[in-house]
Amino acid sequence: MKIINRNTAHPVLGLKRLVNYDFDQEKLIAATEFSEIYRQRARCGMSVAVKIGSTIIAKTVGKGYFIEREAVILNQLDHPNIIRSLCRGRYELKIDKFDCSFSFLALEYLKDFEDSLKFVERSNDRIAAALFIIEEAVRGLAYLHEQGLVHMDIKPSNILTNGRIAKLIDFALARPEGEELDIESKYRCIVGHQGYMSHSRFVDKKAPVKADDLFALGLTAAELCLPDFFRLRMRCYKDLAERHNEDEDHKRKIFQASMSVSYEEIRGSRLPESVKELIFRLIGESGRTQFASAQELLEFIRQVRASVI
Ligand SMILES: Nc1ncnc2c1ncn2[C@@H]1O[C@H](COP(=O)(O)OP(=O)(O)O)[C@@H](O)[C@H]1O
Ligand SMILES: [Mg+2]
Repeated sequence: MKIINRNTAHPVLGLKRLVNYDFDQEKLIAATEFSEIYRQRARCGMSVAVKIGSTIIAKTVGKGYFIEREAVILNQLDHPNIIRSLCRGRYELKIDKFDCSFSFLALEYLKDFEDSLKFVERSNDRIAAALFIIEEAVRGLAYLHEQGLVHMDIKPSNILTNGRIAKLIDFALARPEGEELDIESKYRCIVGHQGYMSHSRFVDKKAPVKADDLFALGLTAAELCLPDFFRLRMRCYKDLAERHNEDEDHKRKIFQASMSVSYEEIRGSRLPESVKELIFRLIGESGRTQFASAQELLEFIRQVRASVI
């Protein structure tokens, strides 16, 4: 990949110089279906993480669609449990002789942080580690929700930790509560990981609400605590692509089956009762009262952690 032009500047970080670099493959931190993240050194010497949209996304929904949305959302946020954005800009690339302009987003570089799932798997006390991460994530979520925003992609790989703090990342799908993405209305689809989607999103295709984040957080908590949980749950989704995706009845059945498996796994596990209660309340298991506020949830988690440790 060769950068042929740079047209962005940042007074402190010197990002004009930053994007003078080629995005060096050796500095590629991660490449997902949606984006590539490169570690780059800004002129002031500080490392930054530069997120650029994948060319696949560029070809479908448009160049920089998610990156630009994420930049706008992150620009409004300032919280220790949420990744900080530094600036955004554009760069130009030659692809097959065509000059293309793409957006990038520069983020604080999270040195020595790792995926929360990998972190708990390495930990001596998996449940304590998982509860620490969930409490940290709730702090970030409570702040986000106070701003009237929802994340919509809560899952272990979007929570990074170094063991002292955990941060929510990947705000590509975040938006004001109740607002559909343009591409959701245009393509009449719902974006995000189906395995963490609530009934109202997955089956009813309703606009996102805060409870959807709490539901995904409940499943994340179960996945962090229980080694086999997500694999078993995802088995229920395996024939989704083979069948007609728009078949609401089929989706309802898949959702119900995945929730039965989830309830069974949690109930039959050796998790302390208080942890089961926390997860069941987050995912709204029948008869359980959901948390009235993020503050109430935080208080509950503190009690659970105190009782477990
Ligand atoms: N600021 C950062 N510092 C270090 N690594 C990061 C940073 N942001 C993302 N990553 C790494 O890149 C991966 C993908 O980032 P993410 O924002 O989730 O992109 P996507 O939208 O493609 O899922 C993360 O799981 C993490 O491993
Ligand atoms: Mg991600």
